[in-house]
Amino acid sequence: MAIEILPARLANQIAAGEVVERPASVVKELVENSIDAGATRIDVDIEKGGSKLIRVRDNGVGISKTDLQLALSRHATSKIHSLDDLEAIMSLGFRGEALASVSAVSRLTITSRPAEQQEAWSAFAEGRDMVVSVKPAAHPVGCTVEVVDLFFNTPARRKFLRTDKTEFSHIDELLRRIALSRFDITINLRHNGTQVRQYRRIPERGDPLRRLKAVCGQKFVESCAAD
Ligand SMILES: Nc1ncnc2c1ncn2[C@@H]1O[C@H](COP(=O)(O)OP(=O)(O)OP(=O)(O)O)[C@@H](O)[C@H]1O
Ligand SMILES: [Mg+2]
Repeated sequence: MAIEILPARLANQIAAGEVVERPASVVKELVENSIDAGATRIDVDIEKGGSKLIRVRDNGVGISKTDLQLALSRHATSKIHSLDDLEAIMSLGFRGEALASVSAVSRLTITSRPAEQQEAWSAFAEGRDMVVSVKPAAHPVGCTVEVVDLFFNTPARRKFLRTDKTEFSHIDELLRRIALSRFDITINLRHNGTQVRQYRRIPERGDPLRRLKAVCGQKFVESCAAD
């Protein structure tokens, strides 16, 4: 067989095998992007365990109109530029893979406005070559990534999804861990339109036990704080 370069979507779908195992892996990538963008508030909306909808909205620095196209391309990142940077990573992401991969196995739209731009723009990738279209949109400073119909075009992967309840519990557990590692960020989680978790940010001089209580429960806090 002759050697051919794979179309962008297929190459990205293959790469997605490494990054996206289940809805919780998508939530992890999106929330890590929000954290890297300096967000102090992250809202996660899930429908049907994430197989129908995963929406992550943040109030981070956002992405400019020109960079939106690149954000959906593979090997495109703002987080490292050289081998030296790679050896001193300060961010959670650096591969420039996540959005391109998720976008290849779902219907992904990214909408954003950075502070220096008056208007917001929305981007999504279409077709086998994943050509990015950009449209005007309404959005406050920050970024929203919406992932609809995860694995709709990779039925073998979709078949491996567990029940909505199980997939949601993986998302819940992931966010509990993130909430425990970053007290300075408010994280809200909704499932099928109902608020399920609300982790309010703890201000610098605030009481960190409040966050611990929200994540691990009153009983846990009482027993670990007892002297
Ligand atoms: N929520 C966000 N706010 C601001 N910029 C973002 C956001 N999400 C993504 N970006 C921008 O899009 C780029 C691509 O994101 P993507 O997650 O694909 O790659 P990455 O985070 O650089 O690396 P990795 O693949 O390891 O996650 C990022 O480098 C960043 O510049
Ligand atoms: Mg990333």
